[in-house]
Amino acid sequence: MFSTNRSVLQQIDLSLLNKSGNELFIKRDDLIDPFVSGNKWRKLKYIISTVIQAKKEGVLTFGGAYSNHLLATAVACQKAGLKSIGIVRGDELTAQSNKLLQTCESAGMQLEFITREEYALRNEKFYKDELSGLYSNFHLIPEGGAAYLGMIGCQEILAETPNDFDYVFVAQGTTTTSCGVAMALPEKTTLCVVPVLKGFDSKAEMAKLFGYSGFSKETIDELLEKTLVLSDFHFGAYGKYTPELLQFMEEIFQETSVPLDPIYTGKAFYAMVNWVLTSGITNKKLLFVHTGGIEGGRAIAEKENKVFF
Ligand SMILES: Cc1ncc(COP(=O)(O)O)c(C=O)c1O
Repeated sequence: MFSTNRSVLQQIDLSLLNKSGNELFIKRDDLIDPFVSGNKWRKLKYIISTVIQAKKEGVLTFGGAYSNHLLATAVACQKAGLKSIGIVRGDELTAQSNKLLQTCESAGMQLEFITREEYALRNEKFYKDELSGLYSNFHLIPEGGAAYLGMIGCQEILAETPNDFDYVFVAQGTTTTSCGVAMALPEKTTLCVVPVLKGFDSKAEMAKLFGYSGFSKETIDELLEKTLVLSDFHFGAYGKYTPELLQFMEEIFQETSVPLDPIYTGKAFYAMVNWVLTSGITNKKLLFVHTGGIEGGRAIAEKENKVFF
């Protein structure tokens, strides 16, 4: 449905890293599609094909007012000829509240706005059972596509590279993408994850997702052994950013033409450069996985009058 051929592996000459002798490559998953961008298609690919095979009517999923996942699900389902239902956090919202929600609705997504209290129940079994009863012919996708099939799709990112990097850098929210990447990681490579949420226990959350997916404790420990958490780059909290981060992203864009967003990839890129320089890493091969976030980034760039797109 969406070809990953557009996701090129781009070598970037970054002046900040010049003296260190490190080689930087970016896996440009942001180029897969403007709406189903970055890790979104990776996560949805096998879920959608399973739904089609099971002859279900469509999917039901969850997200906030600016959820890239809701948008990607709406557009991908439209393309696949499936129905989609989006359960949105905040009963004060409507489909007209912002452009992202409008686009979801125009793509045919049925939007249901619920209170924050009800939204907090989204992962509770009784609540999911209730929804499955109400929408019995719909496949339920957890928030952010955090599911086994999502992880399996993300595993394919590294398969489209020579996979001979010393360090791979990935922004982390639900951990689905980083878990997929961890599964495809060669022996000599270290996975550096950058959680964008404050106080997020990356390894515990990754272990939880691996655990739900049926992995044994030994396998989980092995998978996490080569994971390094760069935990000091959340810039205050999820969704927060600082003038310093925006300035950094603007400079990266001017020098490389690579667009970043301040919620995920901007923080991860900043973390990578900062960590590489302060840790004295030299003459290594680095891979940055560009996980998208294009629409959200564009909206913030316009709001802040910045040029990082
Ligand atoms: C642009 C972008 N990058 C990274 C992530 C984090 O990915 P994950 O939730 O799989 O950890 C997200 C959230 O899904 C995202 O929208």
